[in-house]
Amino acid sequence: MTSNPSKPLKQVHLAAHFPGVNNTTVWSDPASGSHIEFESFRRFAQSAERGLFDFMFLAEGLRLREQGGRIYDLDVVGRPDTFTVLAALAAVTDHLGLTGTINSTFNEPYEVARQFASLDHLSEGRAAWNVVTSWDAFTGENFRRGGYLPQDQRYERAQTFLDTAVELWDSWSPGDVVADKAGGRFLGSATAGAFSHHDAHFDIEGRFDVPRSPQGRPVIFQAGESEQGREFAAASADAIFSRYSQYDEGRAFYDDVKGRLAKYGRDRDELLILPAATFVLGDTDEEAAEAAREIRFQQVSPATAIKFLEQLWNTDLSDHDPDGPLPSFDPVESDVDGLIAQGRASVRQHRDRLEVAAQWRAKAEAENLTTRELIVEVTGRQAFVGTPRTVAETINRFVQDDVADGFILVPHITPSGLDPFVDTVVPILQELGVHRTAYDGTTLRENLGLAHPDHAAAKRATA
Ligand SMILES: Cc1cc2nc3c(=O)[nH]c(=O)nc-3n(C[C@H](O)[C@H](O)[C@H](O)COP(=O)(O)O)c2cc1C
Repeated sequence: MTSNPSKPLKQVHLAAHFPGVNNTTVWSDPASGSHIEFESFRRFAQSAERGLFDFMFLAEGLRLREQGGRIYDLDVVGRPDTFTVLAALAAVTDHLGLTGTINSTFNEPYEVARQFASLDHLSEGRAAWNVVTSWDAFTGENFRRGGYLPQDQRYERAQTFLDTAVELWDSWSPGDVVADKAGGRFLGSATAGAFSHHDAHFDIEGRFDVPRSPQGRPVIFQAGESEQGREFAAASADAIFSRYSQYDEGRAFYDDVKGRLAKYGRDRDELLILPAATFVLGDTDEEAAEAAREIRFQQVSPATAIKFLEQLWNTDLSDHDPDGPLPSFDPVESDVDGLIAQGRASVRQHRDRLEVAAQWRAKAEAENLTTRELIVEVTGRQAFVGTPRTVAETINRFVQDDVADGFILVPHITPSGLDPFVDTVVPILQELGVHRTAYDGTTLRENLGLAHPDHAAAKRATA
């Protein structure tokens, strides 16, 4: 750890990501439960709350993914609606933040602002919104306008969508509901909820119908890694959900994004960086490493290995032997519309197919790996592997070294996979003095150490 006696110990923020059926989850394990039944969400959320986690996180997938024109049933099949799940969870938890991914491309600001304000009321100040833009026209086909917005305009819409939502939330002041029973007066202001927003994307005015919510505004997350995405986060988000859980890449991402805050008049601690992270625990570090290897092979079955290979090669490889070497020919080049895999964000990472294939070949040859072994190596990593103490100390070191401000844990078993972490790693983090022993506040903002947003209308009223 970089020791700097003048720097106070950072607290480690912890959250839990409820995974879909994909190569993170070992859905076929006998211990795995349903990814749709409420009981799974309830158990998962209550484990996170038992571990005094900041929040639970739901991703969004708005179309069944396809590969080669057929449903890709090993990848996120069926995700229930975020608001429905989070509202139900609000009733069975008391402190846990409830973070939902909702895209700004296929929705309207009025309805999304209304849903999040409602969730913030129902949960008494625990709502958070992960604003994503979604990247593919394939998903857009499910919606009224279809995949109508080019990639380069999605963040432009995201920014104005969020600005509009903020205007709607700010259209009510804290004192607007007086509910004076004796005097027979319910509203304290004639202008409550009034808004008028006109720009290139939204031409709306009227009255917003949900009073000011406990957090003023839900906590805003961003997930996306392009230049535009990073600027959007630096300008407007309270936290980033990233995929950079490894030391060097995490440090680089952290420095890059935190370095962008000053130009928006913001301090470095106004934006938290929280990467997704998997973990495997064992009684010894060796045992954990062995378990991690076994889990990787469960996550990447022979069928999944072929699907991943097809995503890079961009062609049907159903006859390829997963226990043999890589195909002898090169990947098929194509634009986005011609990709064999549809609906999977990670496919976009293969921006230069020939170059990635050359790297894979070099690695397979150097390490004498079969196709499946190679896919296991290149498609995922267990971020934290070891005894509970090793994992706790590593997580703490990463946070103190500014690789991240905390982690959003993704267990490979749903819903019980969080329990070993809560039972064994959390107590060591507490012992190290970097994880709470009781919730700090009542709202998610308080627990994340984020300020309550200034309320323009309230300030005007008291000026
Ligand atoms: C860690 C991470 C998680 C994401 N999760 C989702 C998601 O659940 N649903 C979704 O539609 N997009 C998700 N995205 C993609 C976002 O929609 C993002 O807007 C998209 O990648 C385009 O932005 P970019 O070009 O800045 O990456 C995620 C992206 C990242 C980096």
